[in-house]
Formats: sequence, structure tokens, C-alpha cells
Amino acid sequence: MSEPGPPAQMGGGRSAASPAASAMELEMSETLLGEGRAPAKVILVGEHAVVYGQPAIALPVPGLEARARVFAIAAGPTRLLAQFPSAESRPPLELDLLAAADDEPLAAAARAALRYAGRTERTPWRIELTSQVPSGRGLGSSAAVAAAVVRAVGAAAEQDWDAQTVADLALEGERRAHGRPSGIDNTVVAFGRPIRFQQGRAEPLVVGAPLCFLVADSGRRGATSELVARVREASEARPGTYAGWFARIGQLVDDAATAIARGNASRLGRLMDLDHLILQAMRVSTPELDALVAAARGAGARGAKLAGSGGGGAIIALVDADGAAAVRAALIGAGAVDLIQVDLSATGADADADRVSAAPGAPGGPA
Ligand code: MEV
Repeated sequence: MSEPGPPAQMGGGRSAASPAASAMELEMSETLLGEGRAPAKVILVGEHAVVYGQPAIALPVPGLEARARVFAIAAGPTRLLAQFPSAESRPPLELDLLAAADDEPLAAAARAALRYAGRTERTPWRIELTSQVPSGRGLGSSAAVAAAVVRAVGAAAEQDWDAQTVADLALEGERRAHGRPSGIDNTVVAFGRPIRFQQGRAEPLVVGAPLCFLVADSGRRGATSELVARVREASEARPGTYAGWFARIGQLVDDAATAIARGNASRLGRLMDLDHLILQAMRVSTPELDALVAAARGAGARGAKLAGSGGGGAIIALVDADGAAAVRAALIGAGAVDLIQVDLSATGADADADRVSAAPGAPGGPA
């Protein structure tokens, strides 16, 4: 995905620097100008290999979300105040966007959005962010907060940004948070629907029959940037082996997309199991994640694997709706500290004709 250009039309054309605007801003103190939300995400198949150009499938987790609101304040610079789900895992943040370091992920996403809106970090706005998405659990917390902030800034600037624009601007935060992200996390949280993603391009997933997943949190944190760096180092040390694993994961993803389209849950479960085996070989799983995977399978899940970067975080299990209770109990028994159910409903027969987005320059994509 390329850098977003300026919008064809800039809405909300008030200049933050003019005296008239300042007086107006003073009067509008505490006025809510815009709001943005974005959900958590889970990777169904293809993590890590997606960084190397292979496809992956990701799902939004609608019950968990980040929410940002932009208020007018008396004077600039733009400020960003963030509260995360747990102060122990991530303390509250207060940023002055003029002074914040360039490598601060949320500041980077907010600045990218302000500039795209034709604004600067001197705009007298206070961005308030809250998030329910725990960090370090493979649930896309950094992407969700970045996308929520971007959306709120767009709304405050009275500009109607499409999901691809939100994804591209949120990627600025992801780059600071993870080094070399594939772009899948910011894309799935911006679109808010299940996608097959490859090299900056997202397509909606065709779902032939409803599917039920359980996401189980191991309670251990994993740092995506470290895990991605670890896989990079290992792949540079053993290029042939890793190239083979990445290509095999890419095949599993395509087979999984076909299984989902056909509503073939038993095939999808087997593919998830195979993906977990390769992720284990890459040494991104942990004993806690393996125990959860084994417990889910032992209790009747059709398949299970770690979800996200690994090194901690969560697993995802495919369950039959009538067997979900037994798998839940087994996961809690095996140490899960939190469980989230993600349901995929069947898409219409014509959904495969409906491309979500295309990378700039790609056929059918923006110029
Ligand atoms: C993280 O959710 C998924 C990874 O593949 C990293 C990325 O795609 O940027 C591990």
C-alpha cells in the first residue's frame, strides 16, 4: 500500500491558525467534533508468512473495540489522551502532537490523519481514546487504536474517508509499533469484515456456511515486533527452509479460503492444525499456547492454532456450535484467562464479486 495523497476535496475548511477560528474554538470548548471506532482482530491462518508476501485470512472481533473522540479546545497544539484496558499492561498516555517523538505509534497515526485532512499538529483539538482491546494478545490492539484515531480525525475534519484510506493512514502507527508490518491488522480493523489479504490488497471472504470460533487468551504477553524480528533472523539464517514454510502456509491459506467458501468445517479445521505445526517449527508458539491448542482439540474442536504473532497471546479454535461449551470448559481448564466467541455468518452467493479494496495501481484499485 502506498502513502495516501491529499484528498481530492478538503472538507471542514476552517483554518486552525486564523484569529477568527481561534475565537470560535474558544467558544466551542468541549464540543465533540468527531468520533471513530475500530474492532479488534484475529488472524485465522497465514500469520508471519503474510509479512513475506503470502496471503492470510483475518477476522474482525466485533465485541472488542477502540473508540476515539475529537473535542474542540481553546488553543493548540493537538493533544491525544489515551486510556488502555489495563494500566498494568499499558499505562495511560498523554501526548502533545507537536512534541511527541516521531516513533510514537499513536502520534504517527494521528499526524498522518491530520495532514491528510489538510490540518497540522497545531489544530486546537483534544483526541480522547479508550480501548477495550488488550495489548500483547495478538488481537490487533495497536491497529485498532490507530484506526479509531484516524477515523475520529477524519470525522472531526468533516471528511468522509473510505476504509482503505483509514487502513493506509493507520499503517503509519503500525510501522512505528511493529517495524515491518504486513498491513493485515490495520486493513482488517479498518474494513471491519473478514478478509483475505495479500501484499496490501484485501478481498472479502466468501463464507458458505456459518462458522463458530473461540479465541482463548493464554494470559501471556507476546510482542509482535520481537516475534516478527525473530522470524526474520531465523529466515535469514535458513532461507531455504523458511521460504518453503512460507509458501506452504500460503497454500494452506488458499485452501482455507476455499474450505470456508464451501462451508467445509472439517477441512478448515485440518488446515488450521497444519498451520499451527509450521508455526511451532518456526518457534513462535509457547507451551501455554500448545496446551490450549491441545485442550481445544481434545474437547472436540475441529482445529486449533495460535493466532497472531505468538510468543504469548491467544489461540483460535474452530468449534461446532453445539460443541462450543465443552471446548470452552476445556480451554479454561487449560489456563485460558479470557474467551471470545467469533461467529462468521454465511455471505450471499454474489459476495465473491464484491472486492473490498485493491492496492493503488492494481487492476480495479485506486490510481
Ligand atoms: C500480526 O497480527 C501478524 C503478523 O503476521 C505480523 C504482520 O503481519 O504484520 C505476525
